[in-house]
Amino acid sequence: SDPDLVARARAARAALGERAFILGHHYQRDEVIDFADVTGDSFKLAREAAARPEAEFVIFCGVHFMAESADILTSDTQQVILPDLAAGCSMADMAAIDQVEDAWDVLVDAGIAESTVPVTYMNSTAAIKAFTGRHGGTICTSSNAHVALRWAFDQVGGVNGTGKVLFMPDQHLGRNTAVLELGLSLDDCVVFDPRKPNGGLTTEQLKAARMILWRGHCSVHGRFSERNVTDIRAAAPGVTVLVHPECKHEVVTAADMVGSTEYIIKAVDAAPAGSSWAVGTELNLVRRLAAAHPDKQVHYLDSTVCFCSTMNRIDLPHLVWAMESLVAGRAVNRIVVDADDAHWARVALDQMLALPG
Ligand code: 13P
Ligand code: SF4
Repeated sequence: SDPDLVARARAARAALGERAFILGHHYQRDEVIDFADVTGDSFKLAREAAARPEAEFVIFCGVHFMAESADILTSDTQQVILPDLAAGCSMADMAAIDQVEDAWDVLVDAGIAESTVPVTYMNSTAAIKAFTGRHGGTICTSSNAHVALRWAFDQVGGVNGTGKVLFMPDQHLGRNTAVLELGLSLDDCVVFDPRKPNGGLTTEQLKAARMILWRGHCSVHGRFSERNVTDIRAAAPGVTVLVHPECKHEVVTAADMVGSTEYIIKAVDAAPAGSSWAVGTELNLVRRLAAAHPDKQVHYLDSTVCFCSTMNRIDLPHLVWAMESLVAGRAVNRIVVDADDAHWARVALDQMLALPG
């Protein structure tokens, strides 16, 4: 990076001192991670944000939904800053609140709403999280989706009963968790397409389903294919394939290990020297893993898949601008969730934080 910019970042960081706390998601650029007080997956960062009541400013180097969750979990006097407001998430944008309200009406009309619990992935807008809280559901992340799903089924008669989960917005995380961790079958899962009348499903299909999966996906992880797994096994015999659960079901099934970004890092950290890994997640993280472990072979699962473009919008110039503005007394790019949504989203987030494990 530009040495002048690094010097400015250091000066602004020092001037802010303990008034600011900087969170960095694992998919952030190196130049940003260098200034993070803590790095983590979305679950760890939500906990860290909630555990810093002394910080006047929480600078969130991640995407919009994460900053919203941080605003909900911090106190009213704390200010959450997203260095670039254009850092959104294409998956979160696939579930608009009006669509979700309409979908719930479909479940009401089918007579199944009372036996359905919403489980909403962290990667969603605050409005969808609030919907989840209002309807007795929980938030989950990729590191606790199995616990959240079990809890949700327990609210409606257990995994082996007849109750249902409406899982939003990532169909892949929902399917992978239900099938691989809870023992449901692929036939228990249906995909609700918000662009089609009735979600593209018949009332009979809805009644028979156990997992109603929202038709959303991650534009980065959705690009890995089963072929990538076959190819890397041929190119690097003995390789362990490690992927994120936002990947398609056939990719996760073909892989050796599956887990959140934090899980992926810990697995490679703990691996013996000389071991060989193919990692299916965002490229900033995989490159850092490779650099941190020169004694291991860390391959990228598909060399053509690139960065999360919205995560990458947070760069050093934006971080410097946000910090220098705070030093000058201007809190730019504040993320503020309206009070009613914040209340109900907090109910759903607190439910997640109270899950066992
Ligand atoms: P985790 O940080 O929970 O692994 O999620 C990955 C992701 O896609 C975040 O946007
Ligand atoms: Fe959204 Fe995927 Fe980017 Fe995560 S990696 S912010 S889920 S688009």
